[in-house]
Amino acid sequence: MLSGKRILLIIAGGIAAYKTLDLIRRLRERGAAVTPVMTRAAEQFVTPLSVSALCGQKVFRDLFDLTDEAEMGHIQLSRSADLVVVAPATANMMAKMAGGIADDLPSTLLLATDTPVLLAPAMNVRMWGHPATRRNVDTLRGDGIRLVGPNEGDMACGEYGPGRMAEVPEILDAIVDALADGPLAGRRIVVTSGPTHEPIDPVRYIANRSSGAQGTAIARALAALGAEVVFVTGPADVAPPDGVTVMRVETAQQMLAAVQAALPADAAVFAAAVADWRVANAAGQKMKKDGTGMLPTLEFAENPDILATVSQMAAGRPPLVVGFAAETEDVAAHATAKRARKGCDWIVANDVSPATGIMGGTENEVMLITAEGAETWPRLSKTEVAERLAARIAEALA
Ligand code: CTP
Repeated sequence: MLSGKRILLIIAGGIAAYKTLDLIRRLRERGAAVTPVMTRAAEQFVTPLSVSALCGQKVFRDLFDLTDEAEMGHIQLSRSADLVVVAPATANMMAKMAGGIADDLPSTLLLATDTPVLLAPAMNVRMWGHPATRRNVDTLRGDGIRLVGPNEGDMACGEYGPGRMAEVPEILDAIVDALADGPLAGRRIVVTSGPTHEPIDPVRYIANRSSGAQGTAIARALAALGAEVVFVTGPADVAPPDGVTVMRVETAQQMLAAVQAALPADAAVFAAAVADWRVANAAGQKMKKDGTGMLPTLEFAENPDILATVSQMAAGRPPLVVGFAAETEDVAAHATAKRARKGCDWIVANDVSPATGIMGGTENEVMLITAEGAETWPRLSKTEVAERLAARIAEALA
């Protein structure tokens, strides 16, 4: 999702600058181009040589560097990125930004830029708590600047409390969010995905063949349009997308609890293949052969229907609830009946007969059932189905 994105990375002088080296590697792994700028103080913590080697380009350091000005003026540098990231953002840097001070290259770039800015503050706990910093944070937030962290924990200075720079994965997530400015920006959407595993005993379970591919593609497509996605996933084969909040669950009951905890939301998409039944007499210990040839008998209990539960919420129902229908025959009729029975707004119906190769495959052929009727989509990749659906959701929520 960061592929082709240009990040102007300003490194200020704090001990957390060592984590910024890893941030650069992770950004580049994801296909982003990183242009580094360092304050003089930052050079005391990490060397310009390491930063430039990791970025694969020179480090900009001086406001009055004639070569830099000849190649690319500082105003142009400040606007040549999709996002400006300051990591670590020190108390001093934030104070300068809040006050509009431009007395070196980094602070001048921050005053001159017209691109979004994300700060990863890092400082001593007392500096973070100081009324001056509190005022500066309010001012910066009011100016539309985003912050990720700081976190609470042990600090390099030996104290404990809020002030530690956010961890690299958190900064990456915040960067993905900050770059997402599509039609779903500001919308929160819950997506369920994958199979559920219903235990028989501690080592055995009942599952299904869902790979989680379609749900994952939907979460990715929604995030790419700017949505804040809460991705509730069972044990899937495919990895969750970047830039979404992931809640991992195993059973249907856990999935329902996670979805309820994730609400309220503007929309919910239930793509998970939830097991309809769980084993009511699941054993607490591994079941053993007892030598008599007696076979165990499993008793089943019905699982909660997450889609129906959320669709029929008396208060706090998401304005748009989308379900899936996995059918093996008479798809339109069954899916239309399912939409009415469950009380959802839309059903994405597909034929999962083995001959279609859809379950566990890379393509999907779906029908979108809404209050207006059934719409047949052509056979598409799961990514294309996800993108079409995300675009329709964006239209519906506009
Ligand atoms: N679903 C759910 N919770 C369940 C079962 C299903 O949220 N306990 C959701 C699925 O995520 C999907 C939709 O309900 O969005 C339909 O799933 P499907 O398996 O097609 O339908 P079932 O409810 O199982 O109905 P049937 O077995 O009668 O086809």
